[in-house]
Amino acid sequence: MKKILLLGANGQLGTDICFVFSSFPQYKIIKVYRRDLDVEKNDIHSFLSQIEFDIIINCTSYHKTDECEDFPAKSLVINSLAIGEIAKYCREHDKVLFHFTTDYLFDGKKSQPYRETDTPNPLNVYGISKLTGEHFIKNHLDQYFIFRVSSLFGKAGASGKGGNFVETMIQLGKQGSTIKVVNDQVMSPTHTLEIARAVFAFIDQDIQEYGVYHCSGEGECSWYDFAKEIFDQLNMEIDLVPVSHSNYPAKAKRPSYSVLDNVKINEIYQMENWKNSLTEYLSRKGHL
Ligand SMILES: NC(=O)c1ccc[n+]([C@@H]2O[C@H](COP(=O)([O-])OP(=O)(O)OC[C@H]3O[C@@H](n4cnc5c(N)ncnc54)[C@H](OP(=O)(O)O)[C@@H]3O)[C@@H](O)[C@H]2O)c1
Repeated sequence: MKKILLLGANGQLGTDICFVFSSFPQYKIIKVYRRDLDVEKNDIHSFLSQIEFDIIINCTSYHKTDECEDFPAKSLVINSLAIGEIAKYCREHDKVLFHFTTDYLFDGKKSQPYRETDTPNPLNVYGISKLTGEHFIKNHLDQYFIFRVSSLFGKAGASGKGGNFVETMIQLGKQGSTIKVVNDQVMSPTHTLEIARAVFAFIDQDIQEYGVYHCSGEGECSWYDFAKEIFDQLNMEIDLVPVSHSNYPAKAKRPSYSVLDNVKINEIYQMENWKNSLTEYLSRKGHL
């Protein structure tokens, strides 16, 4: 039996990873919560050395993008230094590491989906801290998988953000007033269940082509298009108005285009189109 240590087990992605692996008794997921290991405050090495495992999946993250601007030190501790410590432990003890970063590593100057070979140039503290985390992993370890993911929605809702875009839109839609959504930031919405299935495929197929993989819903859309698709699938008639991001000044700059190209990961696990994934999500949540 393979033992998999899952950090951030209660998060949006962590919850779906638990769900996917729960059907396969040949894998044991050891769930770790912040109360067991606070990666900002506790000694990571001594915690990990108390547990027997083969693979570690790290779903912890500090990813309130605007808040990170005010707390760069905290961002760097959780998203960079802590993952550096985890990677060092993995090297010393011959463990495989799965970790997740973000489309916000890119500056959005491209108009074609970003490949793993494109040069990151983050526009905000969150992106800088996640990129630094990638550098630490690459510096310390060979046996790693970094999945860059984007615009997540999952059954549990983001623990760090208090929900997700789909649920926010549905709640606003039920209130019946006009909804304004940004139409000049383009990305790929991604169901966390799909990422969890991709992780499962890598582990179950014993993939050893270590490195960085882009892992997002197939296709692309603006946040406005995403909102429109949510309401269309739910047959909700909403007064939805496209607006520019400049109408909503935010602390953190965001890329205007951050679509990830899945060609590399699709060789191992074919990522689902974001619209189909949305249908699956709405059905799992009982909205359909
Ligand atoms: N959500 C998105 O739209 C998005 C987009 C791009 C990339 N990502 C990346 O995707 C990954 C998964 O995101 P998600 O949406 O699943 O996040 P999430 O639901 O917010 O989960 C984050 C997890 O990290 C834990 N955590 C935070 N600070 C911690 C600390 N100091 N010590 C220990 N645990 C801590 C949280 O525990 P508590 O519940 O106790 O806080 C939670 O379990 C992350 O790497 C994120 O950066 C997310």
